[in-house]
Amino acid sequence: MAQPDKKNIIIFASGSGSNAQRLMEYFEHHSSIRVAALFSNKANAYALTRAETFNVPALFFSREDFFNSDKVLQQLQEFKPDLIVLAGFLWLVPQHIVQAFPNKIINIHPALLPNYGGKGMHGIHVHTAVVQAKEPESGISIHFVNEEYDKGDLVSQFRCPVLPHDTPEELAARVLQLEHEHLPKVVEELLLKQ
Ligand code: GRF
Repeated sequence: MAQPDKKNIIIFASGSGSNAQRLMEYFEHHSSIRVAALFSNKANAYALTRAETFNVPALFFSREDFFNSDKVLQQLQEFKPDLIVLAGFLWLVPQHIVQAFPNKIINIHPALLPNYGGKGMHGIHVHTAVVQAKEPESGISIHFVNEEYDKGDLVSQFRCPVLPHDTPEELAARVLQLEHEHLPKVVEELLLKQ
């Protein structure tokens, strides 16, 4: 369980977990920060398999566990998280969890908030909307999590161009690369500042 000598990151992921993988790689041999656990709301999320590969505890939870009980909150508390990172996690975090970890939950969103955020704005839907609007640039937003989708205070943003003939998939790949490059460093900076 939690080892007090290092700061603990907990990752929440619903899908593939390539950002989770980057975090686990980056902090695998870190002197003062570790990924303590990965939680997923999808029993077959590839993110869970990735965590097992890194010997990071991988926990599945149900809708009931998350929204209508204290089960997930209690499990989180056992790991003593210093930062909870939502990396491709699709459910809204319930109030009792947000309030238990003030300024300790961040999310990564694949667009430049406050634009192209909110309920339903995830994955390819975001990039389709950005391409259709002929935006000249897109990027990523890392922000604190509050009780509303994509509304918490920004931590940082990074930008990339949208090219004239980009498909949503091409833009998604460019944005994902930006996420992989910056998310671990932003997480590290936040934790070293605490
Ligand atoms: C990323 O684009 C993330 O910003 C978004 O979902 C995608 C997850 O990718 N919220 P992965 O599961 O980390 O590969």
